[in-house]
Amino acid sequence: MTTIITVDGPSGAGKGTISRKLAEETGFSLLDSGALYRVTALAALKQGVDIQDESAVVTIALNLPVVFETTIEDTKVVLADEDVSREIRTEKAGMNASIVAAFPGVRSALLQRQRAFAQEPGLVADGRDMGTVVFPQAQLKIFLTASPEERAKRRYLQLEQAGQNADMQSLIEEIRARDERDSSRATAPLTPADDAILVDSTALSIGEVNQRVFSLMKDRGLLP
Ligand code: C5P
Repeated sequence: MTTIITVDGPSGAGKGTISRKLAEETGFSLLDSGALYRVTALAALKQGVDIQDESAVVTIALNLPVVFETTIEDTKVVLADEDVSREIRTEKAGMNASIVAAFPGVRSALLQRQRAFAQEPGLVADGRDMGTVVFPQAQLKIFLTASPEERAKRRYLQLEQAGQNADMQSLIEEIRARDERDSSRATAPLTPADDAILVDSTALSIGEVNQRVFSLMKDRGLLP
Protein backbone atom coordinates (compact mmCIF):
# COMPACT_ATOMS: atom_id res chain seq x y z
CA MET A 1 0.00 0.00 0.00
CA THR A 2 1.29 3.46 -0.86
CA THR A 3 2.65 5.28 2.17
CA ILE A 4 0.60 8.37 2.97
CA ILE A 5 1.47 11.06 5.48
CA THR A 6 -1.24 13.65 6.08
CA VAL A 7 -0.53 17.12 7.45
CA ASP A 8 -3.70 18.94 8.45
CA GLY A 9 -4.27 22.07 10.48
CA PRO A 10 -5.33 25.72 10.33
CA SER A 11 -3.85 28.21 7.88
CA GLY A 12 -0.41 29.50 8.71
CA ALA A 13 0.57 26.64 11.04
CA GLY A 14 3.50 25.76 8.78
CA LYS A 15 1.90 22.80 6.95
CA GLY A 16 3.11 23.90 3.53
CA THR A 17 6.74 24.32 4.58
CA ILE A 18 6.85 21.07 6.54
CA SER A 19 5.05 19.08 3.85
CA ARG A 20 7.40 20.32 1.14
CA LYS A 21 10.43 19.45 3.24
CA LEU A 22 9.10 15.97 4.02
CA ALA A 23 8.35 15.34 0.35
CA GLU A 24 11.78 16.57 -0.64
CA GLU A 25 13.59 14.39 1.89
CA THR A 26 11.57 11.22 1.26
CA GLY A 27 11.08 11.56 -2.50
CA PHE A 28 7.31 11.31 -1.92
CA SER A 29 4.84 13.28 -4.07
CA LEU A 30 3.21 16.35 -2.60
CA LEU A 31 -0.45 17.29 -2.60
CA ASP A 32 -1.22 20.91 -1.75
CA SER A 33 -4.98 20.48 -1.51
CA GLY A 34 -5.51 24.12 -0.49
CA ALA A 35 -4.19 25.14 -3.90
CA LEU A 36 -7.04 23.18 -5.52
CA TYR A 37 -9.64 25.16 -3.56
CA ARG A 38 -7.81 28.40 -4.29
CA VAL A 39 -7.69 27.63 -8.02
CA THR A 40 -11.36 26.64 -8.06
CA ALA A 41 -12.37 30.01 -6.59
CA LEU A 42 -10.03 31.85 -8.95
CA ALA A 43 -11.29 29.98 -12.01
CA ALA A 44 -14.87 30.83 -11.03
CA LEU A 45 -14.05 34.52 -10.68
CA LYS A 46 -12.16 34.55 -13.98
CA GLN A 47 -15.23 33.10 -15.69
CA GLY A 48 -17.51 35.66 -14.11
CA VAL A 49 -19.20 33.04 -11.90
CA ASP A 50 -20.57 34.07 -8.49
CA ILE A 51 -18.50 32.11 -5.95
CA GLN A 52 -21.55 31.85 -3.69
CA ASP A 53 -23.39 29.87 -6.38
CA GLU A 54 -22.69 26.26 -5.40
CA SER A 55 -23.85 24.47 -8.54
CA ALA A 56 -21.98 26.85 -10.84
CA VAL A 57 -18.80 26.43 -8.77
CA VAL A 58 -19.23 22.63 -8.77
CA THR A 59 -19.23 22.68 -12.59
CA ILE A 60 -16.00 24.69 -12.48
CA ALA A 61 -14.42 22.25 -9.99
CA LEU A 62 -15.36 19.22 -12.11
CA ASN A 63 -13.75 20.70 -15.21
CA LEU A 64 -10.77 22.45 -13.69
CA PRO A 65 -7.97 22.68 -16.29
CA VAL A 66 -5.22 22.87 -13.68
CA VAL A 67 -1.73 21.40 -13.75
CA PHE A 68 0.76 21.33 -10.87
CA GLU A 69 4.37 21.49 -11.93
CA THR A 70 6.33 20.54 -8.84
CA THR A 71 10.08 21.01 -8.53
CA ILE A 72 12.27 20.89 -5.42
CA GLU A 73 11.91 24.63 -4.82
CA ASP A 74 8.26 25.20 -5.53
CA THR A 75 5.08 24.21 -7.26
CA LYS A 76 3.94 26.11 -10.30
CA VAL A 77 0.16 26.19 -10.58
CA VAL A 78 -1.01 26.49 -14.15
CA LEU A 79 -4.68 27.18 -14.89
CA ALA A 80 -5.68 26.88 -18.56
CA ASP A 81 -2.07 27.62 -19.63
CA GLU A 82 -1.81 30.65 -17.34
CA ASP A 83 0.66 30.61 -14.44
CA VAL A 84 -1.50 31.57 -11.44
CA SER A 85 1.01 30.57 -8.74
CA ARG A 86 1.22 34.07 -7.30
CA GLU A 87 -2.37 35.05 -7.88
CA ILE A 88 -3.71 32.19 -5.74
CA ARG A 89 -1.48 33.05 -2.76
CA THR A 90 -3.08 36.34 -1.69
CA GLU A 91 -5.18 36.59 1.50
CA LYS A 92 -8.20 37.37 -0.65
CA ALA A 93 -7.69 34.17 -2.67
CA GLY A 94 -7.49 32.24 0.62
CA MET A 95 -10.77 33.74 1.80
CA ASN A 96 -12.45 32.95 -1.52
CA ALA A 97 -11.09 29.40 -1.32
CA SER A 98 -12.66 28.94 2.09
CA ILE A 99 -16.04 30.12 0.74
CA VAL A 100 -16.10 27.54 -2.09
CA ALA A 101 -14.56 24.88 0.19
CA ALA A 102 -17.65 25.01 2.41
CA PHE A 103 -19.81 23.58 -0.42
CA PRO A 104 -20.17 19.77 -0.16
CA GLY A 105 -20.54 19.51 -3.95
CA VAL A 106 -17.23 21.25 -4.49
CA ARG A 107 -15.50 18.99 -1.98
CA SER A 108 -16.76 15.83 -3.65
CA ALA A 109 -15.93 17.20 -7.11
CA LEU A 110 -12.30 17.52 -6.00
CA LEU A 111 -12.06 14.22 -4.12
CA GLN A 112 -10.88 11.88 -6.89
CA ARG A 113 -8.42 14.43 -8.18
CA GLN A 114 -6.83 14.53 -4.72
CA ARG A 115 -6.78 10.74 -4.29
CA ALA A 116 -5.03 10.35 -7.64
CA PHE A 117 -1.95 11.98 -6.08
CA ALA A 118 -1.32 8.83 -4.00
CA GLN A 119 1.42 7.10 -5.98
CA GLU A 120 4.54 5.09 -5.16
CA PRO A 121 6.78 5.57 -3.28
CA GLY A 122 4.44 7.73 -1.21
CA LEU A 123 2.54 10.95 -0.68
CA VAL A 124 2.62 13.87 1.70
CA ALA A 125 -0.86 15.45 1.68
CA ASP A 126 -1.32 18.94 3.08
CA GLY A 127 -4.77 20.33 3.92
CA ARG A 128 -7.67 20.38 6.36
CA ASP A 129 -9.38 17.03 5.84
CA MET A 130 -6.55 14.87 4.50
CA GLY A 131 -6.55 12.51 7.50
CA THR A 132 -10.30 12.59 8.15
CA VAL A 133 -11.88 12.37 4.68
CA VAL A 134 -9.51 12.13 1.73
CA PHE A 135 -6.96 9.61 3.07
CA PRO A 136 -8.45 8.02 6.22
CA GLN A 137 -6.11 5.04 5.65
CA ALA A 138 -2.95 7.21 5.99
CA GLN A 139 -0.19 5.58 8.03
CA LEU A 140 0.77 8.82 9.78
CA LYS A 141 -1.52 11.77 10.46
CA ILE A 142 -0.13 15.02 11.78
CA PHE A 143 -2.35 17.86 13.00
CA LEU A 144 -0.17 20.95 13.05
CA THR A 145 -1.33 24.00 14.99
CA ALA A 146 0.07 27.31 16.27
CA SER A 147 -1.53 30.26 18.03
CA PRO A 148 -3.38 32.74 15.76
CA GLU A 149 -0.88 35.49 16.71
CA GLU A 150 2.10 33.34 15.75
CA ARG A 151 0.43 32.29 12.49
CA ALA A 152 -0.32 35.93 11.63
CA LYS A 153 3.30 36.83 12.34
CA ARG A 154 4.58 34.12 9.99
CA ARG A 155 2.11 35.16 7.32
CA TYR A 156 3.18 38.78 7.71
CA LEU A 157 6.82 37.86 7.08
CA GLN A 158 5.86 35.69 4.11
CA LEU A 159 3.84 38.49 2.52
CA GLU A 160 6.56 41.01 3.20
CA GLN A 161 9.10 38.74 1.53
CA ALA A 162 6.82 38.38 -1.46
CA GLY A 163 6.65 42.17 -1.71
CA GLN A 164 2.96 42.33 -0.74
CA ASN A 165 1.46 44.78 1.73
CA ALA A 166 0.31 43.40 5.06
CA ASP A 167 -1.21 44.67 8.26
CA MET A 168 -0.71 42.59 11.39
CA GLN A 169 -4.07 43.33 13.00
CA SER A 170 -6.09 42.57 9.90
CA LEU A 171 -4.08 39.38 9.36
CA ILE A 172 -5.01 38.17 12.86
CA GLU A 173 -8.65 38.97 12.17
CA GLU A 174 -8.59 37.23 8.77
CA ILE A 175 -6.92 34.15 10.25
CA ARG A 176 -9.58 33.98 12.98
CA ALA A 177 -12.39 34.40 10.43
CA ARG A 178 -10.95 31.68 8.17
CA ASP A 179 -10.42 29.32 11.16
CA GLU A 180 -14.00 29.92 12.20
CA ARG A 181 -15.41 29.21 8.72
CA ASP A 182 -13.19 26.13 8.21
CA SER A 183 -13.96 24.69 11.65
CA SER A 184 -17.70 25.32 11.71
CA ARG A 185 -18.71 24.12 8.25
CA ALA A 186 -20.91 21.02 8.13
CA THR A 187 -18.88 19.06 5.56
CA ALA A 188 -15.31 18.01 6.37
CA PRO A 189 -14.70 20.65 9.03
CA LEU A 190 -11.19 21.38 10.20
CA THR A 191 -10.75 18.88 13.01
CA PRO A 192 -8.02 16.38 13.89
CA ALA A 193 -8.62 12.74 12.94
CA ASP A 194 -9.05 10.49 16.01
CA ASP A 195 -5.68 8.90 15.27
CA ALA A 196 -3.85 12.16 14.44
CA ILE A 197 -0.80 13.31 16.36
CA LEU A 198 -1.08 16.91 17.49
CA VAL A 199 2.01 19.07 17.02
CA ASP A 200 1.87 22.64 18.33
CA SER A 201 4.46 24.63 16.39
CA THR A 202 3.98 27.95 18.24
CA ALA A 203 7.35 27.69 19.97
CA LEU A 204 9.06 25.33 17.53
CA SER A 205 11.30 26.07 14.57
CA ILE A 206 10.66 24.45 11.19
CA GLY A 207 13.66 22.21 11.84
CA GLU A 208 12.24 21.07 15.18
CA VAL A 209 8.84 20.24 13.70
CA ASN A 210 10.55 18.43 10.88
CA GLN A 211 12.65 16.39 13.30
CA ARG A 212 9.56 15.46 15.29
CA VAL A 213 7.72 14.22 12.19
CA PHE A 214 10.76 12.35 10.94
CA SER A 215 11.16 10.51 14.19
CA LEU A 216 7.46 9.54 14.07
CA MET A 217 7.96 8.23 10.53
CA LYS A 218 11.02 6.30 11.64
CA ASP A 219 9.19 4.77 14.63
CA ARG A 220 6.47 3.56 12.27
CA GLY A 221 8.89 2.19 9.68
CA LEU A 222 7.69 4.67 7.05
CA LEU A 223 10.99 6.08 5.88
CA PRO A 224 11.84 4.87 2.37
O1 C5P B 1 -4.19 25.64 2.88
P1 C5P B 1 -4.69 26.89 2.20
O2 C5P B 1 -4.58 28.11 3.02
O3 C5P B 1 -4.09 27.05 0.84
O4 C5P B 1 -6.25 26.60 1.97
C1 C5P B 1 -7.13 27.61 1.52
C2 C5P B 1 -8.53 27.28 1.98
O5 C5P B 1 -8.98 26.10 1.30
C3 C5P B 1 -8.67 26.94 3.46
O6 C5P B 1 -8.92 28.09 4.26
C4 C5P B 1 -9.85 26.00 3.48
O7 C5P B 1 -11.07 26.70 3.52
C5 C5P B 1 -9.78 25.30 2.15
N1 C5P B 1 -9.24 23.95 2.25
C6 C5P B 1 -10.11 22.95 2.60
N2 C5P B 1 -9.68 21.67 2.63
C7 C5P B 1 -8.42 21.36 2.33
C8 C5P B 1 -7.49 22.38 2.01
C9 C5P B 1 -7.94 23.68 1.99
O8 C5P B 1 -11.26 23.21 2.90
N3 C5P B 1 -8.03 20.10 2.35
